[in-house]
Amino acid sequence: MAHPQPPTIGEYTRTVAFAAAPNDPLHPSATPIYQTATFAQESALEFGRYDYSRSGNPTRDVLERQLAALENPGAPETTRAFAFASGLAALTAATRTLLPGDELVACDDLYGGSYRLFSRLLEPRGVTVRYADFTDPAQLARAFSPRTRLIHFETPTNPLLRIVDIRAVVAAARAQGPRARVLVDSTAMSPWLQRPLELDGGGADIVLHSATKLLNGHGDVTAGALIVRDPGLAEELAFIQNAEGAALSPFDSFLLLRGLKTLGVRIDRQQATARTVADFLASHPAAFEVGYPGLAHAPGRDIHARQARGGGGGVVITFRTGDIELSRRLVESLRLFPIAVSFGSINSTASLPCRMSHASIPAEVRARRQLPEDLVRLSIGLEDADDLIADLDQAVTSASPPMFDPSGGQSRTPRAKTGAVVRRSPSLLPQAHAPAHRPIPAQP
Ligand SMILES: Cc1ncc(COP(=O)(O)O)c(C=O)c1O
Repeated sequence: MAHPQPPTIGEYTRTVAFAAAPNDPLHPSATPIYQTATFAQESALEFGRYDYSRSGNPTRDVLERQLAALENPGAPETTRAFAFASGLAALTAATRTLLPGDELVACDDLYGGSYRLFSRLLEPRGVTVRYADFTDPAQLARAFSPRTRLIHFETPTNPLLRIVDIRAVVAAARAQGPRARVLVDSTAMSPWLQRPLELDGGGADIVLHSATKLLNGHGDVTAGALIVRDPGLAEELAFIQNAEGAALSPFDSFLLLRGLKTLGVRIDRQQATARTVADFLASHPAAFEVGYPGLAHAPGRDIHARQARGGGGGVVITFRTGDIELSRRLVESLRLFPIAVSFGSINSTASLPCRMSHASIPAEVRARRQLPEDLVRLSIGLEDADDLIADLDQAVTSASPPMFDPSGGQSRTPRAKTGAVVRRSPSLLPQAHAPAHRPIPAQP
């Protein structure tokens, strides 16, 4: 099939039916890895379509066209995507549009690495960075100024899974004139669930993805993407991508393109499992405070349902135990969830954001923003829901403090001398699904 794909094709069709190698005379059915730095020219003065892979590479081109088609299927021809070596490389490229004296306004719940980029690299170079809670309409109304040039937010946010109303931010930005560009970090949703460029009533200017997460989905690539509609902005970003040199390699472009082909089936399945796991945690006797945008009473649920397909909650769940040590013991007791940063892979993972992905936000800033230190983040993969639930169940039991035992008996949970939970055999406990008999105390 030639690009662009007709806007009328089905969503699953779009993920697999695209021109795999538009200019290859051998017509391969999968996109080849053009693993070459240079392309020979016709003559000293004639450049061909490609000359140097930093500036352009056929494998990356196919990927970028497919990213544009997935993000804005109604207008793939006028949409441009740019693939970078990581999500932060993509964000860096977007911030290169700023000059000293310009202002960046960001939502105050955001990935720790984005905060680090803003505070350690942008601010010292003369860009003013301000933060506001974009979920609070009063703060949003006064967030921007005539000097605002870039507006950055995630929705759902990482790690608190708060919902930002994309249309409301765009409307507030437009009130400042056309120079305040709205960038939505849509990593947690992917274009399968949310497309900020194409929202009726005015979409965002730039969509950013850490393609390391759902887009690739297999945990074997770091990559990032920017997708835009405005031709002037596209030219600016094409220049930055080449001038700065952080474009995605041919091999990683191939892997990401392959991952994209299963985007829909992966997310459908992972999201359904995440919902089951979120329900399990929300109804657990330990009374966890569960964050999952797909739950009926999740804050911002109505807004999320208006801007994300089917109001789907995605694959990330958070919960609080009320105690940092308890959270640590719990994630260390899990067997099917390796403790790992990142999310969105086919393998489930668990993390403590304040100790891991968000540790680069200073403790006092985390405290000011009420980022709970005991927060546990789960990313749900392709495993069976029953197995994940059984694993969580045994981990809650293992990690829970012993109840008062008048006989002075020992805790059920064997502990090393250091106090760390000792892992039991790698098989799941037979009492899977049994309620935790010694529940973690409810939140104070
Ligand atoms: C929401 C979000 N945006 C951006 C990034 C940065 O992406 P990368 O790690 O690919 O550089 C991350 C990484 O975790 C993220 O969670």
